[in-house]
This record gives sequence, structure tokens and C-alpha cells, in this order.
Amino acid sequence: MERKRIVAANWKMNTLHAEAIELALEVLEHTKKLEAVSKIIFPPFTYLHEISGLIKGKAGFATGAQNCSNHIKGAFTGEISAPMIKSLDAEYVLIGHSERRAYFNEDAALLTEKAQLALNSGLQIIYCVGESLDERKTGKQEMVVQRQLKEVLASLPKQNSNSILVAYEPVWAIGTGETANPSQAQEMHAFIRTVLAQIFDAQIAETMPILYGGSCNPQNAKELFACKDVDGGLIGGASLKANEFTAIVNSFS
Ligand code: PGA
Repeated sequence: MERKRIVAANWKMNTLHAEAIELALEVLEHTKKLEAVSKIIFPPFTYLHEISGLIKGKAGFATGAQNCSNHIKGAFTGEISAPMIKSLDAEYVLIGHSERRAYFNEDAALLTEKAQLALNSGLQIIYCVGESLDERKTGKQEMVVQRQLKEVLASLPKQNSNSILVAYEPVWAIGTGETANPSQAQEMHAFIRTVLAQIFDAQIAETMPILYGGSCNPQNAKELFACKDVDGGLIGGASLKANEFTAIVNSFS
């Protein structure tokens, strides 16, 4: 079964306006030949519209938002809704990134509301899961990831499953320079697929893309992407340098 190959760039709260546009243009130019790999850029909200405009009509590129509100509209000062994101021609939204869980106290109930609204608004979601260092050291990683998957994905309608992607991002590997080795990544991705089969069904589990994230870089991407159940990456730090991001995309060729 051939699954989509995807490399996503999570810029987080980085880049000023001119830097963001320059980075987007460089990435577009350097990765455009690799049409077989979907490139998804998650810039800060403030540049989402402009970057969505830059990539419009370009095969193999899409944009997404790093977050969305759990409300659809109304008196929620400072919030940005899923329909607003969709109206900017963005196609994706990240749900449940570990930084949102840790620093903004986003729990399963809130993430479920966000995921439901995003799907209802016609966006695709990348749902992020991953264990902490303590949880891995004590052998709880599968239990934690299974819980994170079930407590949000199980309440989403099965007919939306083709708009759902998963990213496995062990918290101990995010921004630390420490990466899951290919066998740790493969083992967890295969496990995630068994949980997806319980939540949805075997066919959906087989087709749903699962990305790896956490200090993925040009040196380790090839080995990680070669794993049977790793369908690409969600890249933070290395996505802020066009040459590094390009090298990661090229790891698929
Ligand atoms: P990193 O971040 O590549 O900088 O570790 C990945 C992520 O948080 O999505």
C-alpha cells in the first residue's frame, strides 16, 4: 500500500515578515521538482495568507495553521477560528502539538473540540502525539500514545478519516538534538497503526499517513523515512533553514 509522502515545516513562533517570505520563496524554488513529496508549510498566522497565495496552484505544496480555536466564531478576543484558516486557502491545522499541551494546558476535551471544528470546516488535521522522557524511561510510551490517540480520534467521525494524519513526536526529541533512532520510530509508528485499526479499521490504519517529528535533520531523515511505517516528517528547527529543509525533502529521492 502506497501512502502519501509528506514533509511538513512547523516554523513555530519564528521569522519576521520579510524573513518568512524569503524562506517560503526559497523552499518553493528548491523543492518544487520533488512533486511526489507533499510539502506543507505551517508559518505563524500573520503570514499564512501571503504564503498561501505564494503557493497557490503549485503542485505538491500546501499551507496550514499551527493552532485553531475551539470556537467557531464570536467574542473570543485574540482567537482564530478554523473557518478563518480555511478562508485563507490553508488546508491543514496542527492539533495537539506537545508545546500546546504543555504551555497552554490543552487537554483531550479541548483538542477534540478543535479537531471536530477543523474537520467540519474542511481542514485536514495533523494530530500530534508523543511521550515525555520520564514516560519513555519507565516504559510507558505505548500506553501514553495509545491514550492520546483514543481520547481524541475515537470521537471523530470515521468518514473524516481521510482528512486525519498523525505525527509521532516524542517530547524528549523536540528541539533537543536528540532523535528517536529508526528502530524506536518504526516500533512506535507500527504500534500507532495497530491503535488506529482499533479506533477506525484496518484499511484506514494502513492508509493514514504517520509523520515523525523531533530533531529530524538532513543527517537522520533518510534513515527515518526509510522505515516502513514512517511516511515523512514534521520538522521544526531544521525547517527554518531552506537548505536543511530541502535536504530533508530530498531524503525521499
Ligand atoms: P524540532 O521540532 O524539529 O525542532 O525538534 C519538531 C516539532 O516540534 O514539530
